[in-house]
Amino acid sequence: MLDDIKVLEQEVQEFEVNNEDQLEAFRLEFLSRNGKVQSMFKNMGKVPKEDRAQVGKAMNQVKMLAESKFEDAQQSLAQDQSKDLSAKDDLSLTPPSYPLGSLHPLTQTLEEMKSIFYRLGFTIADGPEIEDDFHNFTALNFPPNHPARDEQDTFFIRKNEDPDVQDLVLRTHTSPVQIRLMENTEPPIRAIMPGRVYRNEAVSPKSYFLFHQVEALYVDENVSVADLKETLVTFAKLMFGTDVKYRLRPGFFPFTEPSLEMDVWWGSEKDGKWLEILGSGMVDPNVFKHSGVDPEKYTGFAWGMGVERIAILRHGIDDIRTFYENDVRFLEQFN
Ligand code: DAH
Repeated sequence: MLDDIKVLEQEVQEFEVNNEDQLEAFRLEFLSRNGKVQSMFKNMGKVPKEDRAQVGKAMNQVKMLAESKFEDAQQSLAQDQSKDLSAKDDLSLTPPSYPLGSLHPLTQTLEEMKSIFYRLGFTIADGPEIEDDFHNFTALNFPPNHPARDEQDTFFIRKNEDPDVQDLVLRTHTSPVQIRLMENTEPPIRAIMPGRVYRNEAVSPKSYFLFHQVEALYVDENVSVADLKETLVTFAKLMFGTDVKYRLRPGFFPFTEPSLEMDVWWGSEKDGKWLEILGSGMVDPNVFKHSGVDPEKYTGFAWGMGVERIAILRHGIDDIRTFYENDVRFLEQFN
């Protein structure tokens, strides 16, 4: 028996495996279910008891030898194959052109805005897109029957008649992040809060049910309207160039007093129009009270900018819907 095993061992060693076919032949000959190795184990019954330990050991050695020879050959064939392939590559061929992706124009605009506000010393904060009524409206001093609470403008996630249970909404602006920030940060605060907002409006070239805002909040002792104006004008010049044509107009928001809106001229000198890019103002003392900030000690300014509006001005785009259609012909202009 031991002699038979020796012979088999030699066969395994001498079997030539230089290609895939030979590898398969090797497998069939030795390692398959009816192969020689398995058949050898079947003869174990005939071996006298006292020899079994020794014979079994010899058989296992042959089995391991066959298996490792198979695996080694398999590996080295696979390596040869990849070498073969690279030898076939024609290095003088022009590579195929794969279309390059790029950042979405809104992302690019937002990045530019962020880098300007970093320079001006603002940090970044964010908050949830699903908001409760308190943060989206009440804390921002919206009176109970304000039209913005109406279902016309607001997407309700949960609308409850029970006065003890808050409504949940898709935030209609980024201003609730101001409240969250003041709730858990001691002034001085100087932060921007970029994010998506939602409004239940008819889709048109000028409005979409989803858009982006960059909220800002600056709270400290002695912050004044002059600081607000200076910051807004500095931003406009850094974003659109020092010759940017802008104007500040009085506005109205429940959460600021006084309130200002900023417009930037869009188009050529003769054939253009004012485009509103933001609402802003001095934080109303009631908002401070709702957020746990002492209105006797602190003042502050805030704004909410429309990112799409800024991108429109930056790139001369005239239809807000194009930002959301993901038409490659539109997007590839911003590579
Ligand atoms: N939240 C306002 C809007 O969506 C914009 C706004 C106005 C934000 C004045 C402010 C602000 O922080 O002070 O129309």
